[in-house]
Amino acid sequence: MTRLLVIHGPNLDLLGARENDIYGTDTIEDINGEISRVAGEEGADCEFYQSNHEGDIVDKIRDSRADGILINPAAYTHTSVAIRDAVSAKNVPVVEVHLSNIYAREEFRHKSLIAPVAAGEISGFGRNSYCLGLKGLLSIIANRKDAAR
Ligand code: DQA
Repeated sequence: MTRLLVIHGPNLDLLGARENDIYGTDTIEDINGEISRVAGEEGADCEFYQSNHEGDIVDKIRDSRADGILINPAAYTHTSVAIRDAVSAKNVPVVEVHLSNIYAREEFRHKSLIAPVAAGEISGFGRNSYCLGLKGLLSIIANRKDAAR
């Protein structure tokens, strides 16, 4: 079974109660439930992790034994060299997702420090961003397994 780690960055624990016009009304539990359902259909198993702390996210990425990582780095997307370096050091694919379209928002959100070292990025599809990112991540993992055969 393919093992995935899903990381939610700062303030995503407030989903459902936070800026509903931008992020929708789903809670993090709703989103995790949907990710689990889609992952199950695709034969994958997910561990979920949320933290508001940069160093904890760095440690989680470093220590992960998952086959791939789906991450919404939230505000750290735009500021964290440390998370970027942790992603860059990882030898499994990491896919970045955002609920909102970060390129259609304030200018400081237009730059992702993570995207250049991620396998791919999905932005702007609401909770669907996670499912699209998950499918993309699984396809990259499957392609790598095929190539290694
Ligand atoms: C976000 C976009 C970020 O700019 C913001 O800081 C977030 C959420 C998103 O999912 O749209 O916290 O990552």
